[in-house]
Amino acid sequence: MTDIIFSTIKVDLTTAASSPSHPFRLCTFATSTATSPSIRTVVLRAIDQELSMYIYTDRRSKKVMEIGQQNQVSLLFYDPVRKLQITIGATAQCTTDDQLLKKLWATISPKSKKEYMSKLPSREKIQDPEKTEYHKEQHFFTVIKIIPQTIEYLRLKKSNHIRVQFDKEGGNWKGNYITP
Ligand SMILES: Cc1cc2nc3c(=O)[nH]c(=O)nc-3n(C[C@H](O)[C@H](O)[C@H](O)COP(=O)(O)O)c2cc1C
Repeated sequence: MTDIIFSTIKVDLTTAASSPSHPFRLCTFATSTATSPSIRTVVLRAIDQELSMYIYTDRRSKKVMEIGQQNQVSLLFYDPVRKLQITIGATAQCTTDDQLLKKLWATISPKSKKEYMSKLPSREKIQDPEKTEYHKEQHFFTVIKIIPQTIEYLRLKKSNHIRVQFDKEGGNWKGNYITP
């Protein structure tokens, strides 16, 4: 039975990566330093056969700096209709594959490209958001790869809540029901 649940998680995440209306398309991404955690909303852009997930960001961002210090991260997905929560414990790495970055950059619309082209890095104090300045060519686009180590499924139901912990053992995912 946990195998079926695992398959549904895969289907949901795969669908979300290509469907802007899927409730898992936006997720909460947590990073941390030795002293404090940080969370933010991000778009799930892609997922591969090994369930590694990919998000786009500005390489000057705090999340990238934090991953450089401590690569243990979490992702949280929530579907309010199904009262379904998926929590992922993972390691993260910023891609160093320039060819891949070039290929993906070419697929981004000019409007979205601006998100990675501001002259000032994020979190700088500014006078007026309407006057943000952008580079003409230079950009700071990067891709974060999130490699899952644990996956937790929680579905709240009127009768019995269902909670399953999946761990990667010898390359295979193994699920156990746990108390909700
Ligand atoms: C709906 C929504 C989607 C977002 N998607 C992304 C995203 O895909 N990548 C990203 O870097 N930031 C995204 N952001 C902005 C982040 O939530 C965050 O504010 C920004 O990345 C700076 O985070 P940091 O300073 O903690 O690194 C999104 C924000 C919202 C509200």
